[in-house]
Amino acid sequence: MGEALRVGIAGLGTVGASVVRVLTDKAAELTRQCGREVVVVAVSARDRNKDRGIALADAAWFDDPVALAKKAEIDVFVELIGGETGIAKDCVEAALAAGRHVVTANKALLAANGVALAEKAEKRGVLLNYEAAVAGGIPVIKTMREAMAGNTISRVFGILNGTCNYILTRMEEDGLSFADCLADAQRLGYAEADPTFDIEGHDTAHKLSLLTSLAFGTRISAGDIYMEGISNITQADIRAAGELGYRIKLLGVAQRTESGIEQRVHPTMVPTASVIAQVDGVTNAVAIETDILGELLLSGPGAGGNATASAVVGDIADIAKASPGFQHGPVFGRPARELAPYKRARMRAHAGGYFIRLTVIDRAGAFAAIAKRMAANDISLESIVQHANGENGADRKTVILVTHETTEAAVRKAVDGITRDGHVVDTPQVIRIERAE
Ligand SMILES: NC(=O)c1ccc[n+]([C@@H]2O[C@H](COP(=O)([O-])OP(=O)(O)OC[C@H]3O[C@@H](n4cnc5c(N)ncnc54)[C@H](OP(=O)(O)O)[C@@H]3O)[C@@H](O)[C@H]2O)c1
Repeated sequence: MGEALRVGIAGLGTVGASVVRVLTDKAAELTRQCGREVVVVAVSARDRNKDRGIALADAAWFDDPVALAKKAEIDVFVELIGGETGIAKDCVEAALAAGRHVVTANKALLAANGVALAEKAEKRGVLLNYEAAVAGGIPVIKTMREAMAGNTISRVFGILNGTCNYILTRMEEDGLSFADCLADAQRLGYAEADPTFDIEGHDTAHKLSLLTSLAFGTRISAGDIYMEGISNITQADIRAAGELGYRIKLLGVAQRTESGIEQRVHPTMVPTASVIAQVDGVTNAVAIETDILGELLLSGPGAGGNATASAVVGDIADIAKASPGFQHGPVFGRPARELAPYKRARMRAHAGGYFIRLTVIDRAGAFAAIAKRMAANDISLESIVQHANGENGADRKTVILVTHETTEAAVRKAVDGITRDGHVVDTPQVIRIERAE
């Protein structure tokens, strides 16, 4: 049996405490699988006296995670603090500089600094593993980086935020408003007190930026992601989607197009019969489309202590199994210095179907004017549904247009024109339709 793998863990919150618990409870099994023991020899968190319900007696305590990264006698540094900059970045940089392997669950850190950190890791010949940073327990990084070698990926998309998927599922199942479902999610611990980061799409964008880099071999470019959240989705949208054979999901989508790579996060209509449409509640899913494999869909728990710990422990076990001196594969699938510059596709060039919901003043000429704006922008319609909707008052009608494939630019021009014509009240709702198997 080889020498024990010495692990230092910074951050003992939801994920960190679960990782320690799994490493303790599954020690014998992990030893058999890895051919050596995996031992937590050092830990760090803010409060030394907090009862975390985990056995830490044999681990050295560090108040400062950077000191742990630099000075503790460890082989692997596990960062489970969180945050894009500050202490998380400082301690990961210190660990890499000291030649330690690093495991992290921190998508914010990697979305902002992933390429620079990967360059450091590759230069030192150590691993930087981050399976838990995207879709929690779903092994998507390993699948894309290792199991899909030789595949050319054309599109990757997914439900990457459990909070948003929980809210949209409850809106559909229980007919409740966005605000009521959000309040419920907060009560159940699925949403933060300040939910902006989740519901406006930032969390999905961080994860998507890492998938984009893996899929297309480009430098991470989270700042270039087109983003819309779910806070303006209403019951009227959910009901109309259902009638038309769609469900609404917040998707992160990265896709290669003629003009560059699209990265977008927005509420999306997916066909009810598609596999991704069946993914409900806090569950996550990632679909990967390739030339050799076709479409693969992975789904499972995207957050929570145990699910996330499963991915972190898998990353640690990979390091335990690697032979000393083994040449490690690059962090983002290609050597970090060879990642291509990210070429952003213009959102206005996005091609696809669109759902447009209008509240129309029911008077002569209104419908003709709408049809004229559509025709003027070369938009052909797959369906038109009208409701004389009591909610909207006697002289209002809800009109739902579903377009055949068109462009974002054409839809924006048409909708601007319709608004200017003065036949609609309320802001028109526009939701993109995504092709899905
Ligand atoms: N929770 C999930 O379901 C989930 C899923 C996927 C990925 N992640 C990622 O995993 C990471 C950890 O998330 P979490 O939910 O476990 O967070 P958390 O519960 O808030 O835990 C954070 C931990 O970091 C410690 N910490 C904070 N500042 C510190 C400092 N200056 N020095 C030392 N320790 C410090 C805290 O110490 P105290 O305990 O003493 O306050 C706490 O133990 C984040 O990057 C997150 O994005 C989480």
